[in-house]
Amino acid sequence: AEKTKESLFILTEFAKKFYTNQLHDTEEGQMIGLSYFKERGFSNEIIKKFELGYSLNKWDAFAEFAEQKGYSKELLQTSGLVTYKEDGKRFDKFRERVIFPIYSFSGRAIGFGGRILRNDAKAAKYLNSSENEIYFKSKTLYGLFQSKQAILKQNECFLVEGYTDVLSMHQSGIENVVASSGTALTKDQIRIIKRLTSNITVMYDGDAAGIRASFRGIDLILEQELNVKVLLFPDGEDPDSFARKHSASEISDYIKENSTDFIKFKAKLLLDEAKNDPVKKTELIREIIQSIALIPSLIQRELYVMETATIMDIREEVLFKYLAQILNKGE
Ligand code: CTP
Ligand code: MN
Ligand code: MN
Ligand code: MN
Ligand code: MN
Repeated sequence: AEKTKESLFILTEFAKKFYTNQLHDTEEGQMIGLSYFKERGFSNEIIKKFELGYSLNKWDAFAEFAEQKGYSKELLQTSGLVTYKEDGKRFDKFRERVIFPIYSFSGRAIGFGGRILRNDAKAAKYLNSSENEIYFKSKTLYGLFQSKQAILKQNECFLVEGYTDVLSMHQSGIENVVASSGTALTKDQIRIIKRLTSNITVMYDGDAAGIRASFRGIDLILEQELNVKVLLFPDGEDPDSFARKHSASEISDYIKENSTDFIKFKAKLLLDEAKNDPVKKTELIREIIQSIALIPSLIQRELYVMETATIMDIREEVLFKYLAQILNKGE
């Protein structure tokens, strides 16, 4: 197994170089891949820093080259980068896509994300490497290798949804940012962040899916005894689209002014829905107290209950009683 792992690391590094070469040193790569990145406003510096690449519009460009260089069909198949069919045909996983290499904590390439270039409702916008002995989606954060120093230095981690969000933030000089890459945030991902800082700000897309994902993420982060803030982007924007329209200082200001603690975030969104309907307001208070119940620290729970009481204009005693009920039930 160790031998397979090491072989996979070497092959993935080889594939990473292959895709970056295709981007920079082929006509198709330059005309289609590089111009795609340029049109989206990514600088040469960012393209280099994240070693972005391109996969040709061909069934087996990578398979052919890798086989030629002596990589075994078995290893190529295990990596998920090539599929061999029983009739002897082979095809590459990534074809005609721009490529985002994914790195381990220490900076070794472990997999790839590939984005489609045209709008095609039938094809997935992003394809990700299949899991193998070196790539586990639930334990991976995109951008971690490039961001870990800044996360330590700022003692804060910004959590975004996607590849391009990480790139655009870096391009704007905000380098303490990682992406959960579309999958629901996992315990393992939070534990990785916790090794660097105990402060997370969730910056998911300003759409319904992003808000739903923030709610789930918040509870998971609270359970891990981390401080969680939330920042919502204007309707329909994500960090990438927002960063493209604003200067670096406008982005920092927006973050400073609009980051709220999780109670204010939940309260604001849910209060808008509930208005003055007492039944809905009750549900909302329940929802918030249930989140608070997940926090392991007694003192932190107290402080959050007091804050909720103020925002919701309800007596603390009532909230503490309800909290005690939840905790006793072991919910
Ligand atoms: N994602 C995925 N597969 C998809 C769609 C999304 O793996 N079919 C992941 C990608 O990591 C993506 C993230 O979820 O970056 C967020 O999705 P989305 O907001 O839809 O994409 P963006 O990152 O905004 O991509 P872009 O700006 O290129 O459209
Ligand atoms: Mn999204
Ligand atoms: Mn989207
Ligand atoms: Mn997005
Ligand atoms: Mn986007």
